[in-house]
Amino acid sequence: MVKEETVKEYTSRTPKSKKLWEVAREIIPGGVGSSVRCFEPYPFFINKAKGSKVWDVDGNEYVDFLMGYGINITGHAHPTIVDAVKEQMEKGSAYAIPHEKTALYVKELLRRFPAMDIFQLANSGTEATMHATRVARAYTGKDKIVKIEGTYHGQHDYVYVSIHPPLAKTGPKWAPTPVIESEGIPADTAKNTLIAPYNDVEAMENLFKKHEGEIAAVMMEPVMLNCGVILPKPGYLKDIRKLTEKYNIILIFDEVKTGCRIAPGGASELYKIKPDMVTLAKAIGGGLPLAAFGGKRDIMESLVPLGRTSHGGTYCANPLSISAGLACLTKVMTDKMYKYITDLGGKLNKGVSDMIEDAGVTACVNSIGPLGYVFFLEAKPVDFRTATVNDLDKTWEYWFHMVNNGVLPWGPLQFEQWYTSIAHTKEDVAKTIETSGDAFRKQAKG
Ligand SMILES: Cc1ncc(COP(=O)(O)O)c(C=O)c1O
Repeated sequence: MVKEETVKEYTSRTPKSKKLWEVAREIIPGGVGSSVRCFEPYPFFINKAKGSKVWDVDGNEYVDFLMGYGINITGHAHPTIVDAVKEQMEKGSAYAIPHEKTALYVKELLRRFPAMDIFQLANSGTEATMHATRVARAYTGKDKIVKIEGTYHGQHDYVYVSIHPPLAKTGPKWAPTPVIESEGIPADTAKNTLIAPYNDVEAMENLFKKHEGEIAAVMMEPVMLNCGVILPKPGYLKDIRKLTEKYNIILIFDEVKTGCRIAPGGASELYKIKPDMVTLAKAIGGGLPLAAFGGKRDIMESLVPLGRTSHGGTYCANPLSISAGLACLTKVMTDKMYKYITDLGGKLNKGVSDMIEDAGVTACVNSIGPLGYVFFLEAKPVDFRTATVNDLDKTWEYWFHMVNNGVLPWGPLQFEQWYTSIAHTKEDVAKTIETSGDAFRKQAKG
């Protein structure tokens, strides 16, 4: 429960948002266009964004570390991307007929992910992981996929399992029970979704042995970023790579959050792993909806018209998104810019950690390059089970304190992270560290 005075401060700052939400909630579920945007007492509404800042309808300014859940790696409305989108818009936003920028864009993805031979395009992370799962199944002729407990791969039925399940339902840690997390998903679906704990090679091998010859693919976030930030233990990803090769199982890295973000070539580059397939979205689109899934040639040749596995979509590879993505990846996000967001993220992560220590509260920052998350836990978690005991009340108290003081640290739900973009400045980081310090000192006082 967030303290009454904290909520009062929030509501006194956001009366116009409240009014808009009261209208919206009558005609849209929760008054929001995606369920995760809704929170108590009501969400604030944004009407403008530029660089590292967003402004709400009441005129409050926020340093934005949510950055659209990481899509705005260049900051909001970067001039190069605005120009690219304007130029394309003059020539039409969607043809549903090929145009020359698609191959230029895919060439850039292949440069960044050299283990891949072919990419196909989609519009969201959900679509990318859905298509990758289908391709892996078609290629192997097997139905089962393995996902990690505590990861999120989008909204489609086969992966909407064991995302943040209640501990009472999860079974033993070394062999988690699959838990379907939405009504409307057939129980039979979960029969083809097997669950493994993160950072546990032995448990993964046991699963492979138990279902030998039945598993098409392991789909995993190489760094768990839908459970705050949880890092792979040294050697874990390499061991999973070896194991999937040994059992002839396709390894899909879901790099929707890590791809073109924690390094130009994502976690594959950073950890020097060659997965068989990758899925990408968020940072690859320059702020517009764009996603991709790629793989080795023989796997991707399963797709129509080369093979018999279906892929399509009216908006796929639309020139507007491709123009924004191309400008983002080829013009703006140079190696120098990756160094900038990584260094600045490092300063933020360290600064907030120091504030925790100074205030003497039970919390820790887990981070990777430009991303970080405050867990209100004694020790950094290593998997879903060690993360899910995070103190939710303290997390919300921290979040509201930051928002009330002009910093949006992450999305309004547990287990997200901050995203440092190229638009963030030393001053933004200093303000965030200072405001975090105030929040921790307040918590220490009780
Ligand atoms: C790792 C991962 N995969 C897939 C998705 C789904 O992406 P989208 O929201 O674009 O459908 C997300 C969304 O946060 C994600 O974090």
